[in-house]
Amino acid sequence: MANQEDIFKKVVSHAKEYGFIFPSSEIYDGLGAVYDYGQLGTELKNNIKQYWWKAMVQYHENIVGIDSAIFMHPKIWKASGHVDAFNDPLIDNKDSKKRYRADVLIEDHIAKIEDKIKKECDKAHKRFGDAFNREQFVSTNPRVLEHQKQIDEIHEKYAELMNANDLAGLKQLILDLGIVCPISGTRNWTDVRQFNLMFATKMGSVEGENDTLYLRPETAQGIFVNFLNVQKSGRMKIPFGIAQIGKAFRNEIVARQFIFRMREFEQMEMQFFVRPGTELEWFRHWKEERLNWHLALGIPADKYRFHDHEKLAHYANAATDIEFEFPFGFKELEGIHSRTDFDLSRHSEFSGKKLQYFDSELNENYTPYVIETSIGVDRTFLAIFSHALKEETLEDGSTRTLLSLPPVLAPYKAAILPLVKKDGLPERAREIMDSLKYDFMLQYDEKDAIGRRYRRQDAIGTPFCITVDNDTLEGKGVTVRERDSMKQERIPVEKLNTYLHEHIKPIQVN
Ligand code: GAP
Repeated sequence: MANQEDIFKKVVSHAKEYGFIFPSSEIYDGLGAVYDYGQLGTELKNNIKQYWWKAMVQYHENIVGIDSAIFMHPKIWKASGHVDAFNDPLIDNKDSKKRYRADVLIEDHIAKIEDKIKKECDKAHKRFGDAFNREQFVSTNPRVLEHQKQIDEIHEKYAELMNANDLAGLKQLILDLGIVCPISGTRNWTDVRQFNLMFATKMGSVEGENDTLYLRPETAQGIFVNFLNVQKSGRMKIPFGIAQIGKAFRNEIVARQFIFRMREFEQMEMQFFVRPGTELEWFRHWKEERLNWHLALGIPADKYRFHDHEKLAHYANAATDIEFEFPFGFKELEGIHSRTDFDLSRHSEFSGKKLQYFDSELNENYTPYVIETSIGVDRTFLAIFSHALKEETLEDGSTRTLLSLPPVLAPYKAAILPLVKKDGLPERAREIMDSLKYDFMLQYDEKDAIGRRYRRQDAIGTPFCITVDNDTLEGKGVTVRERDSMKQERIPVEKLNTYLHEHIKPIQVN
């Protein structure tokens, strides 16, 4: 795999070839930025959701989950600010007729400069070997310092323009940075305009101004408007959280990078309600806790970084993104926001219902402050899948395609493979499968030579292959082959259940 673009192409084609992700409506030539999950993709996606749900709801006594409707009262989106302000700044290139997000053009430009820094570091690392000190290098190397200065200046200007909603200024910045259209290569840009991202539809048969509904652009508002219902019916005491997994819809203008930016996607969001004044402490808590959730999957820590927001929404007093190094660079995977009492106050104002909490310890009523953690299911899928996909050259010079998914997320936990299709081995293999299938997703495969069957399981990320041979018939256990190391060990059949449970757990991070 030569470069990042090739790696990304390989990710997309592997996902399709093995039944993880298909373009939506493919036989009708597809639908832009909409995808279907296939038989293995659905398993992986469900496992991601379960891993999140367990970590957030099951492991926290003070967090409960809900499932609110996609359709909500249209006033909700007025109150939340989405009708007036859920916009992207758009710009068109007059030559290619292609449309871009102005902010994304600038961020991509910054990413290119960041890439130059990375290349300088890689070069120096090669030259100095183990003696290379990255921190020292980036704080002293003149070329790196110059690049960093450029980045800081662009960031500062960009944040200032976005905060002031200065669309003319954004266009000027794009011109000043010499940003060209990737298709036409020209700087022939239109003015920047705002474009609302919500999909609108109608309810009922009579059309009118007030019957416009929106497909929810985030799941969070379903939590806010149910705050009192949950708090009262669950007798929840602050601090407490409400979690939800569900579909969200955004009419993304720049729909590219596969499932990174979709028009229909899924979010896993949690709103944590706290006493006013304690929110920044809780913000730090959730930053750490959410990063640990990612690290427990065993993906190296240097694939993640925090990106604190320069442009804070007017209602937020702290915000950060957990970014992941996708094949196209570091990009947002999850957002953690301290949203103050903005949402509950606005819904109180627009609904006329008081959304407050009586704190018996303080003997006072207040509107709780909120820390939000918000992560895309599909983006998590892409992060994990793209990191897992590898081409390996083995000792004998042959190659294998390996999908080294974290075992807890893998679609199948094990494959049950009779060594040959005779001598009673398939029957014994089926018995073993039946004894394990209520606890684990398993695949049975008896076709082709064992080596080819191993390769097939490697390519779909199955962490363990359980081979049943003649010794198994004599009560001498089975061979268990571990996917990444390809090491094999003999395990008694009655210990298989415990063995698999032990080996598919996420790793413990603090
Ligand atoms: N309630 C806050 C909120 O929705 P956001 O940063 O707009 O915040 C949260 O979205 C997460 O949802 C993102 O970090 C990303 O993982 C995911 N997400 C947002 N837009 C997406 C899209 N168009 N396609 C796929 N995932 C998306």
